[in-house]
Amino acid sequence: MPNIPIIEFDRVSKVYQSGGGPIAALHEVSLHIAAGEFIALIGPSGCGKSTLMRLIGDLEQPTAGTVRVKAKTPDQARRDRDYGIVFQAPVLYEWRTICKNVELPLELMGHPRQQRHARAMELLRLVGLGDFGEAYPHQLSGGMQQRASIARALSFAPSILLMDEPFGALDEITRERLQLELLSIWAESAPRPTVIFVTHSIPEAVFLADRVVVMSPRPGRVQRIIEVDLPRPRAFETRESPRFFTLLTEVRECLRAMEV
Ligand SMILES: Nc1ncnc2c1ncn2[C@@H]1O[C@H](COP(=O)(O)OP(=O)(O)O)[C@@H](O)[C@H]1O
Ligand SMILES: [Mg+2]
Repeated sequence: MPNIPIIEFDRVSKVYQSGGGPIAALHEVSLHIAAGEFIALIGPSGCGKSTLMRLIGDLEQPTAGTVRVKAKTPDQARRDRDYGIVFQAPVLYEWRTICKNVELPLELMGHPRQQRHARAMELLRLVGLGDFGEAYPHQLSGGMQQRASIARALSFAPSILLMDEPFGALDEITRERLQLELLSIWAESAPRPTVIFVTHSIPEAVFLADRVVVMSPRPGRVQRIIEVDLPRPRAFETRESPRFFTLLTEVRECLRAMEV
């Protein structure tokens, strides 16, 4: 089914009911995402980025419109384990070793012990934590913990990786390194997962994505979609290329135009 997008939003709206009255978080968002694409979602705080991601992952339900994932409901896709999710805070279990944390989804899915251990170690090597399987989360830096979270999200080879500001709490240097690592992990995965990456960093969005979806606030809508035609594999030098700066400016001006 080559023409069916892996993720499809058709006029999706989301209204939260809160004590202070209804909050329109998303308004008639239509969006098609192809299998294997790397999508960055960017926009000011409160514009509905997390809501959009949570609708894909079946963590929220739309008020109107339809969300389809692999031509299924998000609920079905979740039960089929189509998603791996990485949040801003690493969410590791303190009493489990790093390896046991990465094994957890496989354990819940009933994979045999040896098989899941081997898979967890393979992923830990992939994210540069091959020597830390027996360590506990508190023994790792924030960046290392987030790598472990990424390894865990990838453990069952999900076709969709949902990442909500996963590097938001890290320093700039660690962050740039993890961006590169994420791209190489993504490129090496076969098949490549579709990635939905929420960020409010313009350089991060442009560096990572095939397309940057710029959202406007109150209520959240898709303002513009900017194609990132930077060659892959992206490298340290990518950030210094004139085209990179041109694209940064394009995204920045699009965000600024909405402020008035
Ligand atoms: N569970 C909730 N209940 C009520 N309001 C919410 C809830 N989650 C988010 N919102 C509101 O919806 C809007 C969009 O939120 P969110 O999707 O988290 O934005 P972003 O991730 O872009 O910062 C905000 O105004 C936020 O306060
Ligand atoms: Mg958010």
